[in-house]
Amino acid sequence: MMGTGTFITFEGGEGTGKSTQARRLAEYLEAKGETVVLTREPGGTASGEIVRRIVLEGGAEPLGVLAEAVLMNAARSDHLEKVIRPALNAGKTVICDRFSDSTIAYQGIVGGVDLDLLKQMEAVIVGDTAPDVTFVLDAPVSQTLLRARRETNRTSGKGATPDRFEKQDKTIHEELRKAFLAIALQAPRRVHVIDATGTPEDVFARILQVYGKVAEKAA
Ligand code: TMP
Repeated sequence: MMGTGTFITFEGGEGTGKSTQARRLAEYLEAKGETVVLTREPGGTASGEIVRRIVLEGGAEPLGVLAEAVLMNAARSDHLEKVIRPALNAGKTVICDRFSDSTIAYQGIVGGVDLDLLKQMEAVIVGDTAPDVTFVLDAPVSQTLLRARRETNRTSGKGATPDRFEKQDKTIHEELRKAFLAIALQAPRRVHVIDATGTPEDVFARILQVYGKVAEKAA
């Protein structure tokens, strides 16, 4: 943990609704008087958004998955330095839509990049700015893929065609789901799996229930 602020991350496969839930939690905590910085990865800074565009549009594909992991970490380093650490040091709450667990899941467990290597990169780039709490949103792929396709048609600067991750077949999305569950098993104190089925209101209620308990323990 860095400074005095709280660092919260949202993780999960495509179409699990994590961006919606991250925004809801930000609004909820702001209404309670906290100063919240809501951000995302890849992205969150001007350079990070450039990396986001390159990777999501498939521009990094010819370089291979290891290069993709390096790009994600380069963007993360900039994001940590310019946005996340200053906010935490100022006592703000940072809510980040994806962070380093996504690199482990996408480039590591599913992409095949050596996990020890990725963990070494993470140790160098993230250091002790690890999230205090991570929510992994989990739902059956048959549901999340539908949602991902609907979202692709309307948001997040990805254009109207499916990005390179969303084009991948269902098996990869099943593997991603398992990857995030494995990450949660390895870090049970930090990572909380949230059932992401049902309405956004149902899902948010589950998040608040867990967050309430975590905040109580930390107090
Ligand atoms: P999202 O905004 O829908 O979560 O899209 C971000 C995409 O980037 C998603 O497909 C996952 C991918 N990604 C990685 O592959 N590795 C990473 O480290 C991060 C942060 C995201």
